[in-house]
Amino acid sequence: MAGIAGKVIAITGASSGIGEAAARLLAGRGAVVVLGARRSDRLETLAASIASKGGQASFLVTDVRRRDDVAGLANLATARYGKLDVLINNAGIAPISPLDDLRVDDWDDMIDVNVKGVLYGIAAALPVFRRQGFGHFVNTLSTAGIKIVPTMAVYAGSKNAVRAISEGLRQEAGPSLRVTTISPGYVDTELPSSMTDSALREQGQASMKAMAIPAGAIAEAMAFAIAQPDNVDVGEIVIRPTAQA
Ligand SMILES: NC(=O)c1ccc[n+]([C@@H]2O[C@H](COP(=O)([O-])OP(=O)(O)OC[C@H]3O[C@@H](n4cnc5c(N)ncnc54)[C@H](OP(=O)(O)O)[C@@H]3O)[C@@H](O)[C@H]2O)c1
Repeated sequence: MAGIAGKVIAITGASSGIGEAAARLLAGRGAVVVLGARRSDRLETLAASIASKGGQASFLVTDVRRRDDVAGLANLATARYGKLDVLINNAGIAPISPLDDLRVDDWDDMIDVNVKGVLYGIAAALPVFRRQGFGHFVNTLSTAGIKIVPTMAVYAGSKNAVRAISEGLRQEAGPSLRVTTISPGYVDTELPSSMTDSALREQGQASMKAMAIPAGAIAEAMAFAIAQPDNVDVGEIVIRPTAQA
């Protein structure tokens, strides 16, 4: 099945930023979107906004640190709409800091959300995709995993763990499942709010103000990969502001 219209697409981290932009764009092109994140008020408002424009959206409060929550999101898609075409593993946090600061709780949080959250997504959707004989994983990585810079070691590590897992998944997936990774550079979202070091948060916000591209640019890339015919597997897309070094 090529195109976007009629596909059932579950999105984690759909309450703001890239996930929200993807939900709006994909629903606008005829997908049924199933939205997951922790902030129920945001999800409710987003689902209502999509419905008011003639789109179809459901939501479930989902903490990707809980395997059952992520399974619930996939189950909602299949129970309500009969299938799951795409899972966008997009939820992520970036409480960055120099390793010397030993902010070990932040390291744990990044592993739990950025790595284990994606693994729980795979655990939830892979059996569904196998049963159906089709399915597409879209995993949000980061250019932080391509150009490794100070303060971003653990964040970059979490994203590169998902890069490795995604390639392994692709190798194992066989001829009927697709796996796409998208690596954004600076995108104008709420991501700095997850930064626990206030100086780095301000720096992050300043960099965003100076050069960030809109979240819709990443949503367009996701839409491109999803819209390809079943036998075309877009592996990896990197999108950064032209001004990003
Ligand atoms: N913005 C950038 O410059 C940039 C660059 C490269 C990569 N990325 C990646 O893009 C992805 C989306 O981030 P964004 O930039 O759009 O930032 P954002 O606006 O802060 O969105 C992050 C999303 O993740 C969700 N989330 C965080 N922790 C969660 C949890 N435990 N369970 C479920 N959902 C959770 C948030 O929702 P709740 O708080 O409601 O749960 C929110 O919907 C992330 O993976 C991020 O690493 C962003």
